[in-house]
Amino acid sequence: MHIAQVHDWSEGPRYVTVDDPPAPTETQIQLRVLAAGLHQVVRSRASGQHYSANSLPHSVGVDCVGRDVATGKLYYCVNMQASFGSFAELITVAKGTVHALPESVDPLSFAASVNPGMSSWLALTQRTSNLPKSYTVLIVGATSASGRLAVFVAKALGAGKIIGVARNEAALAKIEGLDEFIVQKDPVTDTDFSQVDCDIVLDYVYGVLTLHLLSTISVPRPLQYVNIGSLSRDEIAIPSALLRSRDITIRGSGPGAIAPQIIQHEIKRLVPTMAGWGLPGAHGVPLKDIEEAWQDKSLQSKGRLVFIP
Ligand SMILES: NC(=O)c1ccc[n+]([C@@H]2O[C@H](COP(=O)([O-])OP(=O)(O)OC[C@H]3O[C@@H](n4cnc5c(N)ncnc54)[C@H](OP(=O)(O)O)[C@@H]3O)[C@@H](O)[C@H]2O)c1
Repeated sequence: MHIAQVHDWSEGPRYVTVDDPPAPTETQIQLRVLAAGLHQVVRSRASGQHYSANSLPHSVGVDCVGRDVATGKLYYCVNMQASFGSFAELITVAKGTVHALPESVDPLSFAASVNPGMSSWLALTQRTSNLPKSYTVLIVGATSASGRLAVFVAKALGAGKIIGVARNEAALAKIEGLDEFIVQKDPVTDTDFSQVDCDIVLDYVYGVLTLHLLSTISVPRPLQYVNIGSLSRDEIAIPSALLRSRDITIRGSGPGAIAPQIIQHEIKRLVPTMAGWGLPGAHGVPLKDIEEAWQDKSLQSKGRLVFIP
């Protein structure tokens, strides 16, 4: 069968032929992969920069939607082990890592959405505490795939109001479900957060924007900040006076901050919830084209990418 595999961290993935995986044992299942998502974590692992996979050769991909070869039933599968790769025609995995899906699910959209959707689900369920009823969420980086899904997730988990922050006004204005939005200015320190009233910040951007937000937001209640991503690639130093001058709790959310067994438990709750949503579409790329597609930055403008064997 064919898989995507990295042999040299500086090269990116290659389309290679390997033996088919072994037939499943009683505790395993074999899936024919239909779509595997190109998430930030997949890029990071395939470039040797992620702690969860640092040996070569590296098989690409952490999750997929596929059909049980034996029964034809549809499943979502996620596995962060270093030896696992979902950019493959067939995978044999432990039954505990797959989640049954209804036939109504679009495999491409679903494969593209669970990983980014999980980011806000875990942040809100595991990295906040004592949220007031109908709380207000501020999503920083609302036009990212994760930020867009955070709008659905926050609503599903009881948010009463959702405010989005991003630099692209046209894209921001089109996001369904936002009650308000704030356009990030250039320089970011010109962005006006002084009128924002929220209980939680979910931050996908970090950097100077975050420092400016935390320094200028003036909320008369406890504020819970959860860092989820760092799209800006900036680092910041938070002045001690900022931490002492307001009721603010700062946390991060991701594997490490949350134990693996809790993540597995939450995936079991999230997958059936997401199966009922009208998820954003995804752009499918044939796996055999992975070498060119990996280098083609313009493909990203087509939206979320999934690879189809
Ligand atoms: N901790 C976790 O569990 C977890 C899980 C998933 C993702 N993440 C992290 O969350 C972040 C978002 O991931 P994603 O896959 O959703 O991203 P994505 O869809 O690839 O987001 C890309 C978009 O983010 C916006 N963006 C990029 N740089 C920006 C900047 N400097 N300032 C403001 N906006 C910027 C751009 O939108 P515009 O072009 O519209 O401006 C860009 O199109 C990443 O850092 C990722 O590693 C964390």
